[in-house]
Order: sequence, then structure tokens, then C-alpha cells
Amino acid sequence: MQAREHGTGLNAVNLRVFARSGKGVDMAADGEIVIRTACRADFAEIARIERLSRPAPWPDRIIRQSMDGASCRCAAAQKPAGAGLAGFCFYRYLGTDMEIDDLAVEPAFRRGKIATRLMEYALDCGRGAGIVRCLLDVGATNGAALGLYRKLGFTDDGIRRNYYADGEHAILMSRNVSG
Ligand SMILES: CC(C)(COP(=O)(O)OP(=O)(O)OC[C@H]1O[C@@H](n2cnc3c(N)ncnc32)[C@H](O)[C@@H]1OP(=O)(O)O)[C@@H](O)C(=O)NCCC(=O)NCCS
Repeated sequence: MQAREHGTGLNAVNLRVFARSGKGVDMAADGEIVIRTACRADFAEIARIERLSRPAPWPDRIIRQSMDGASCRCAAAQKPAGAGLAGFCFYRYLGTDMEIDDLAVEPAFRRGKIATRLMEYALDCGRGAGIVRCLLDVGATNGAALGLYRKLGFTDDGIRRNYYADGEHAILMSRNVSG
């Protein structure tokens, strides 16, 4: 599968979900974006992409806490040749449910199925851990994320009014993970 060519003059990159090592080492070969488990060394890249992606980004402190938290997991999209990350997805397990806490892709790499691959990786990890359902909330005006989640099979469970700090409503969504 090919990611969209981005605006830097580089060739289109191939997306490949690498077998999970859980060690977070850079295993990206030339020309490929690899989805892998994030590690502490990814902090600066995750913070950079978070700042590029949200009007009210998570502060560094929250990102660090999330990366250190025992219940938190994070998938990372590794660019080729040690060039950093193109995206990430924080998720965690809550009993037999899992929750998507944060997902972002660097703007120049969007519409290349990186978020789809990150989500599939997280769901796959959850499935392997016996998770049966995945939950998330998304801003009611976030058309890109709503489109992504619906394409991945998430359905609407309800709405939480004025849920976010800026007053935006949250759409609550879920999908089955097992089977
Ligand atoms: C939402 C986001 C993660 C999507 O990342 P991405 O890598 O571009 O997503 P994908 O390429 O995997 O997109 C898969 C599908 O999602 C939908 N989608 C993605 N971006 C879209 C957009 N801008 N407008 C409409 N639909 C969109 C489409 O159905 C797309 O499939 P298609 O390209 O075949 O039409 C990215 O736009 C982003 O980082 N946004 C800022 C942070 C954010 O809002 N995170 C979500 C928090 S809940």
C-alpha cells in the first residue's frame, strides 16, 4: 500500500506494519513507514506532531505521563532512515475494553492511511490481549477523524455536549475488537 506523496519532493513511501517487537527500536528500512510500539525516545517527535495537530495540544507533561503510565500504550509510525515519526496513537486497556486517547498524523503525511494503520495496529494489539470493545470520543466538527473512525467500523453511541474545553461536543463511538 502506498502513502500519498508529500510535499517535500520525496518519493511516496510504502506502509508496512512491522511485526511487533515491543522494543520501540528503529526498524524502518529505506522507503517504508513502519508501525511499531513507541518508546520513551519518541517523546520529542510525539510532542512535535501533537503541537502540529491540535489547537490545544496536550502539554509535554501529559505526554510524558502518558508514555510513562503503566496502563498507557502508544503506537508510532516510523519514517524511513531514522527521520523521526509521522504519527502516533495513544491507547489503553480498561478491563475488556480499550480506549483511544490520542491520535495524530503529521500534516504533510495525512491521507496516506497512516492513521488507519496506527489504529489497526492498536486494535490488533488489543485483540491479542483479549480486548472485546474499543471506545473513543471525537470532536463533533472533526470531519477527518469522524470519517476515519467510521471507515474503520466505529459507530456512534451518543453525544456529550460541551465536553471539550472549547465547548465542542464529543461524539462517543465504539466498535467490536474481537472476531
Ligand atoms: C484524523 C487524522 C489522524 C487522520 O490521519 P490520516 O493518516 O490522514 O488518515 P487516513 O489517511 O488513514 O484516512 C483514512 C480515512 O479517513 C477519512 N479521512 C481522513 N482525513 C480526512 C479528511 N481530511 N477529510 C475527510 N475524510 C478524511 C477518509 O475516509 C480516509 O480514507 P480515504 O483517504 O480513502 O478517503 C489526521 O487528520 C490528524 O492527525 N488530524 C489532527 C488530529 C486529530 O484530529 N486527531 C483525531 C483525534 S480524535
